[in-house]
Amino acid sequence: AANANGRSQCVGPEYRPEGQKPTATVSTEVHFDNVTILPQTPQLIALLTMIRDRDTGRADFIFYSNRIIRLLVEEGLNHLPVRSHAISTPLGTSYDGVRFEGKICGVSIMRAGESMEQGLRDCCRSVRIGKILIQRDEETSKPKLFYDKLPEDIAERWVLLLDPMLATGGSALMAVDVLKSRGVPEDHILFLNLIASPEGLENFSQKFPKLRVVTAFIDQGLNDKKYIVPGLGDFGDRFYTM
Ligand code: PRP
Ligand code: URA
Repeated sequence: AANANGRSQCVGPEYRPEGQKPTATVSTEVHFDNVTILPQTPQLIALLTMIRDRDTGRADFIFYSNRIIRLLVEEGLNHLPVRSHAISTPLGTSYDGVRFEGKICGVSIMRAGESMEQGLRDCCRSVRIGKILIQRDEETSKPKLFYDKLPEDIAERWVLLLDPMLATGGSALMAVDVLKSRGVPEDHILFLNLIASPEGLENFSQKFPKLRVVTAFIDQGLNDKKYIVPGLGDFGDRFYTM
């Protein structure tokens, strides 16, 4: 069902009767094969409710954003290759497991993407992190590239590209162009994102169909200033300076 804000759905575990679950606005669905949306669990919706709330102060905004970022990183890692790996437990019994294969690095789109670096480090100790400084022009909403500094061997790595907001998609498209110009294959890039607009995601997925996007939520759309609606405002301001 859709309400004025978007798709409304009962939120809670499958085994619980519908009547015992509250309804909430959940992510818009899209039909791009390369997009993974986090499961719309009560926990995720509660965390998003906190960071979307205009009355949430900076300390809570950081705390709850970090929890969503952790979920995104954990899900993102599921899209990296693993291979079979058998071990023996202390009981002398074998266990057929897997282990990660290949080298990774993070790349944050500054400034807001830097907020996701710690969540990546918490899961991948001593991970290398490159930076791309792209800022949207406040008048035109067009992105401008100021700076990049990336690991020398980035072409041989899986890249976790970090930016919490995908609005028009312009900034992320520009960042991927930088990565591709350094030899990173499109299908070795994972874009980790908190909130996307349907139009931004469509631009992005059409241009880079082989790149996997992992997002927590797809919102309703953009306003006339190209802000995501209902959104959460300016992520960088709320995380760093407000
Ligand atoms: C924000 C956000 C994205 C971009 C999304 O950054 O973090 O990078 O806008 O918009 P787009 O999809 O329309 O390009 P902004 O340029 O405001 O800089 P900031 O990270 O310093 O806040
Ligand atoms: N950047 C943000 O931080 N928020 C938006 O809604 C759009 C771009």
